[in-house]
Amino acid sequence: MTKLLILNWKMNPATLKEALSLAKASDYKNVVVAPPFPFLEEVGKVLKKSRLGAQDLFYEEKGAFTGEVSAKELKSVRVKYVIIGHSERRHKFDETDEMVAKKMKAAAENKLIPVLCVGETIEEKNAGKKEAVIERQLKIGLFLYPRPYTLNPFIVAYEPVWAIGTGNPETPESALETIKYIRKILNAKPYTLNPKILYGGSVDSRNLRDYLKYKEVDGALVGGASLKKEEVKKMISYV
Ligand code: PGA
Repeated sequence: MTKLLILNWKMNPATLKEALSLAKASDYKNVVVAPPFPFLEEVGKVLKKSRLGAQDLFYEEKGAFTGEVSAKELKSVRVKYVIIGHSERRHKFDETDEMVAKKMKAAAENKLIPVLCVGETIEEKNAGKKEAVIERQLKIGLFLYPRPYTLNPFIVAYEPVWAIGTGNPETPESALETIKYIRKILNAKPYTLNPKILYGGSVDSRNLRDYLKYKEVDGALVGGASLKKEEVKKMISYV
């Protein structure tokens, strides 16, 4: 299967000029570029080979929700993918599993490809709760509002919270085990779901290949390293 790289710029860069320059350097097949909202439309115009992604959406269609952005608004500027339930949303903005489920539903209804992020905190890991946390996040995120996920494509990103932005990635072996576990849950009766499953958390050009060498790992969600053109160039050569 082709590997996928999702480049999550988070709240970077500061200007449209820098965003366009970075977008041009990231425009390759099998890449999704996810810039901040204000840059989506213009970045979308310079991307010829890669796809446009958003970092979040709000689940209501329209109305009095100051500061929020709907699935339809994202679609209107040609967004194809949307990251949902990123750990920074869950832990810095108190997003609950239920909110994540509503966002998944809104994305699916609007034919955006949702990238559902799951992963445990260091406390949960140390308490032996990793599997339970991931199972809960998956089941609520996907099945609280049953959607025809067998018809609509979606993606899962396994991102251990403690590995994000720390320079301390999960080992490839352990990430592989968790990705197999996720696949097992998604294939336990009555489900037979076969999404791409990515790893994320301190991925860069030095370690990317160690994850992608496993056929079970369908790609990576990259934060910090996606802001450096040289890093992007190297990483692209591995997908
Ligand atoms: P990181 O971020 O690559 O900087 O660890 C990954 C992510 O947040 O998706």
